[in-house]
Amino acid sequence: MLSLAVRHTALKHLLKVTASYSTTTTIDHEEITKFNKHGKQWWNDSSEVKLLLSMNEIRVPFIRDGLINCGIVSDDHIETCKPLSGLKVLDVGCGGGFLAEALARIGAETIGVDGSKDLIDAAIDHKQMDEEIKDNLHYEHTCIEEFSKSHENVFDAVVSSEVIEHVVNKEDFVKHCAACLKPGGSIFMTTINKTTIANVLAIFVAENILQIVPKGAHDYDKLMAPHELQRMFEENCCYTRRIHGFTYNPVTKRWCWIPSSDINYAIHAVKAKE
Ligand SMILES: C[S@@+](CC[C@H](N)C(=O)[O-])C[C@H]1O[C@@H](n2cnc3c(N)ncnc32)[C@H](O)[C@@H]1O
Repeated sequence: MLSLAVRHTALKHLLKVTASYSTTTTIDHEEITKFNKHGKQWWNDSSEVKLLLSMNEIRVPFIRDGLINCGIVSDDHIETCKPLSGLKVLDVGCGGGFLAEALARIGAETIGVDGSKDLIDAAIDHKQMDEEIKDNLHYEHTCIEEFSKSHENVFDAVVSSEVIEHVVNKEDFVKHCAACLKPGGSIFMTTINKTTIANVLAIFVAENILQIVPKGAHDYDKLMAPHELQRMFEENCCYTRRIHGFTYNPVTKRWCWIPSSDINYAIHAVKAKE
């Protein structure tokens, strides 16, 4: 029979192992059900989510220039049409692949992961149509907490655009995203600020008046202020380099940078080198 001391030590070890493996999910199943519905029409001209595609006009340069300014883009590639060649990029919550495709097209070896199987299927179907990106773009139907277990310190950049406002356990979400980054790598996120003006413009007006965002797409209570996201980044050794406000202009029908971060914002942080 085991002595009390041995049993106590064994129990302590078991608890430690269980704690290091146990992880809470970041998936909000209601959100995934909502996103699944867009699977069939993600890339159509009449897509209800096409505003995300037009966001590429500002978010792709934000990511590309952020990486160039950090000095991790090779000099040989900066002036080419594929400046991100040689860099490994993870797109978390890639949906049907709007951003992942654009990053692969400028050279990044890209992996997109998403909690929606229907959207990953749409993303896989769409990339087949483009010879240029077929080989450097891959997709996986998974959540970041599963993916990060086998991809620690792998990526030069982790991007997650318009996703954090749809996840549960945001602290874990950021932790697992940051874990996938190499030391010195960059994390980029875009989201909606938690302000009254964002609630009015980016939610009420966008969903009910302009009807350019699906009704019920966003919930004010799930939004996050930039300083909260910065704190979560810092807890994972990622230090903010840039925060920039942006918004959609319904007159020009384009996204544009603005001096205030009160509506939408993009954030870029860099993981400390060990
Ligand atoms: C608004 S869409 C953004 C899609 C893409 N990032 C873009 O901007 O084109 C949000 C995406 O996040 C995914 N998502 C939500 N929660 C997630 C989670 N916990 N893990 C992975 N993907 C998630 C949804 O399935 C959906 O595809």
